[in-house]
Amino acid sequence: MPEKKEDKIPPYYEVYRLARQQEEKGYSVIHLEYGDPDIPTDPRIIDEMSLKALEGYTHYSNPLGLDELREKIAENMSLRLRTDISRDNVIVTIGSKSAIYISLRAFYQPRKSVLLISPIWGLYHTLLKEMGIDYVNYKTRMEDGWSPTDDLFDIRRSVGIIMVNNPNNPTSKVWDNKSIKTIIDFARENNAVIISDEVYHDFSRKKFYSMLSYDYDKVICLYSFSKSYSMTGFRLGYIISPNNELLSKFAKLQQLYFTNVPVFIQYAGLKALEMPWIAVENIRILWRNTDFMSRGLKKMGMSFLRPEGAFYIFMKIPEKYNNSYRFCYDLLVKENLCFAPGEGFGGYDNFVRVSASLNIEKLRLALKRLERFLGDS
Ligand SMILES: Cc1ncc(COP(=O)(O)O)c(C=O)c1O
Repeated sequence: MPEKKEDKIPPYYEVYRLARQQEEKGYSVIHLEYGDPDIPTDPRIIDEMSLKALEGYTHYSNPLGLDELREKIAENMSLRLRTDISRDNVIVTIGSKSAIYISLRAFYQPRKSVLLISPIWGLYHTLLKEMGIDYVNYKTRMEDGWSPTDDLFDIRRSVGIIMVNNPNNPTSKVWDNKSIKTIIDFARENNAVIISDEVYHDFSRKKFYSMLSYDYDKVICLYSFSKSYSMTGFRLGYIISPNNELLSKFAKLQQLYFTNVPVFIQYAGLKALEMPWIAVENIRILWRNTDFMSRGLKKMGMSFLRPEGAFYIFMKIPEKYNNSYRFCYDLLVKENLCFAPGEGFGGYDNFVRVSASLNIEKLRLALKRLERFLGDS
């Protein structure tokens, strides 16, 4: 097994790299280590993008985003979250990933810690390490339903930023009102900025509580067109905040780093929002796939909590495996099936994340390969 290059490549990029190596050798690998739905982007969205580029929307533009798009986002999200959002609360971003980076740059206070509520998408850990920012890793547990508990208040360091992801990648957990309140109480105690990654909000199968629905305004929420509209390659996202000071700090850096999101891409986003049934159908497909995968994994005796939002399954690996990277490596080499090691989501070394973002045929084959692997090993 190749050594993990701990400081250079995080575990889930490493398994992806190894998977590519297998493919170069001619093996057909099933990639369930990343969350890129294999549903094609609706052609009307692509047409709109091309049309707008041909019409000449190929120049610099407002760093906050197109007024029409911000207006439409505000209207949609006001309805969805049952809260008042105006165009001025919205900034369009290059995917939501860039918003994570900009937020850290904009709100980081050197004498205060950053707090991550884990498990959380691996990028958060990797990015903080890459930026040389020391952080506190608060680990929720499957036994507590992947929710924060009052031991959060045992953290004695002064916290300036809290980063959360709800619905969660990798657990697909959707927090209830009590969990959100716990985090807000902790934020209030620390006067901290909450960066709330809600990119999977529309996948939630139960009542979704956004950080925007509470009376704490040091909040910035992240959203994306990537998953529900199957537009990962467009790199289109947005942030919403009720706080003008946070928005203006963010806007300043967005302009400095990126100028603006390409305008023809923003028009594609506007077109997508005019056809909400596309997202509804994509989400239905991804829920169905997640249920299919969950049933198959349960039959094999795997242990995990039922996904409530998003299309990931975060499951325990058999006890004889003492680390998640080892499990993923063996599975990849023996069966050409790729999962993401739990270690990368905040040190959950006895878990792996399975993404049900591919079609049922591939998922069925993946289950067969996993069953053979578990039987053999
Ligand atoms: C929790 C979470 N946030 C953000 C992103 C990034 O999405 P985008 O494509 O908008 O950058 C992902 C992508 O997998 C994600 O899982």
